[in-house]
Amino acid sequence: MKVVILSGTPKSEGLSASCVSAAVTGLEKAGASAMVIDLCKTSIGCCKVCGDGWGICRDENVCAYGEDGFNEVSMKIAEADALVIQSPVYWGETSEVLKSFLDRFRRCEALKENTALTGREVLLIAAPGGSGNGLLTCLGQMERAVQHMRGHVFDYIGVNRWNKEYKLKAIVAAAEALALRRSTR
Ligand SMILES: Cc1cc2nc3c(=O)[nH]c(=O)nc-3n(C[C@H](O)[C@H](O)[C@H](O)COP(=O)(O)O)c2cc1C
Repeated sequence: MKVVILSGTPKSEGLSASCVSAAVTGLEKAGASAMVIDLCKTSIGCCKVCGDGWGICRDENVCAYGEDGFNEVSMKIAEADALVIQSPVYWGETSEVLKSFLDRFRRCEALKENTALTGREVLLIAAPGGSGNGLLTCLGQMERAVQHMRGHVFDYIGVNRWNKEYKLKAIVAAAEALALRRSTR
């Protein structure tokens, strides 16, 4: 069982980094292999909205600018059995780098008969580290992208400064359960 953890945090320590570590712990407890993809370490940019709103993403299901690291990350997700998406909450949304990736990934995947997420479980984790506001809109944004690509949301976990003691444990448990659940693909 191979699981990709898509991380949108720029920080190597902090709340989001703790969430990613907890997910790795849970996956490894279940004997799965966890691959963390740190999107802030890639050069993946935002969608350039080429063509007349749709570029070759519509007909060829690939991005014209995929060589910026987008193709590589997309392929790793397609090869995985399940996906974890983690982001800090910025303005009630995901971090910009995660949004840029998901925007482009959705364009390339959503119109395929079988997408990279079809029949796959996706665990969503958002960390509003400031006021704690914006958790639901952030998780909703992730959920929408996953649903457009016809993945199945396994669980939604929100972690803030006040609940992290028990929510990090919940991430370990959720990641373990995710890995133990057989892929429906
Ligand atoms: C541009 C920006 C916008 C942010 N917006 C929110 C927000 O809407 N709600 C919130 O609780 N925290 C907000 N934060 C704080 C981050 O959520 C916090 O830094 C992060 O979730 C988790 O903490 P970490 O940096 O220790 O991983 C924001 C931070 C930045 C940099």
